[in-house]
Amino acid sequence: MLRRLHKDQPESFAFTPDNHAWAEAQIKKYPEGRQASAIIPLLWRAQEQEGWLSRPAIEHVAAMLDLAYIRALEVATFYFMFQLQPVGAVAHIQICGTTSCMICGAEDLVAVCKDKIAKAPHVISDDGKLSWEEVECLGSCANAPMAQIGKDYYEDLTAEKFATILDELRAGRVPTPGPQNGRYGSEPLGGLTSLKSYEAGKAAGNASVQLATDIGDTVKRIDGTEVPLLTPWIHDGAANTSAKPAAPKKAQKAADTATPGTKPAGLTAARDGKADDLKLIKGVGPKLETLINSLGFYHFDQIAAWSEDEIAWVDQNLEGFKGRVTRDTWVAQAKALAAGGETEIASRVKKGDANE
Ligand code: FES
Repeated sequence: MLRRLHKDQPESFAFTPDNHAWAEAQIKKYPEGRQASAIIPLLWRAQEQEGWLSRPAIEHVAAMLDLAYIRALEVATFYFMFQLQPVGAVAHIQICGTTSCMICGAEDLVAVCKDKIAKAPHVISDDGKLSWEEVECLGSCANAPMAQIGKDYYEDLTAEKFATILDELRAGRVPTPGPQNGRYGSEPLGGLTSLKSYEAGKAAGNASVQLATDIGDTVKRIDGTEVPLLTPWIHDGAANTSAKPAAPKKAQKAADTATPGTKPAGLTAARDGKADDLKLIKGVGPKLETLINSLGFYHFDQIAAWSEDEIAWVDQNLEGFKGRVTRDTWVAQAKALAAGGETEIASRVKKGDANE
């Protein structure tokens, strides 16, 4: 199946402030130089915010990770979990059509989708609220047939029950997820034959379903207004706190005062309004160049003059890219460029074969 970007694209994309802080925290989970590994969580959060992945969203994530756009596009187009076209404003329904579900009635569920949403998959319903698609096994085969809606599974479905669930969603209500035929989990339909202590748990209710109900974001878009956004690794390990993560600027200000080293003298703007192309330094992409400029550095000779102490400060203040100055020997490269020489990346650019 060809997966292409949608023909109609929005002008721009930006994470909400909270989602941006969450994304920056995700990047911090990876070792220096491996920030690109955050590509999937960031694309996923962009999709959760917007409902689907637009080209500006993919570009935005690529820039955050200092990654060539094509690399992010490769990931977005490879994985089917990423929606490359607009979806229903309330929910996008994913019907499992693989063997167990097909045998147990998935085709009936698809018929309901065609009747109540749109004749074809990936087409938004006339009221704009729902869309659907058929997907491969979602790993809930013992509770077939099933559908994933938002973050939750609706299992042991019948056409009638599924139609009611769609009606509820349309009306702005979120039906309780989990098995829809009274089963607690994936125990035998005819009742337990072993492990009968399971009955006690059954009486207490399905904890997964309860948690999903308590969190209540099954089909809710993450738009930055929700709390909590869990980033325990930047909150001293505090679990599920309702405190919101600091906004990026505040985090930067805190770093300014807490980091070791000495801040090099910077400029308020490029001399004569003409900044050097700092991307000629290997390891510096558009995102990093913007960040370096925001710290007051626009020219090769500025970077070439950094002392050890100043390198330590800059390395600690490159939000999301800590350690890059040392790792990629920026100062040596900048010295060569300032003296009119070339770096490896500069000569590749000159030859026209630089790919990033
Ligand atoms: S076959 Fe449908 S969940 Fe596995």
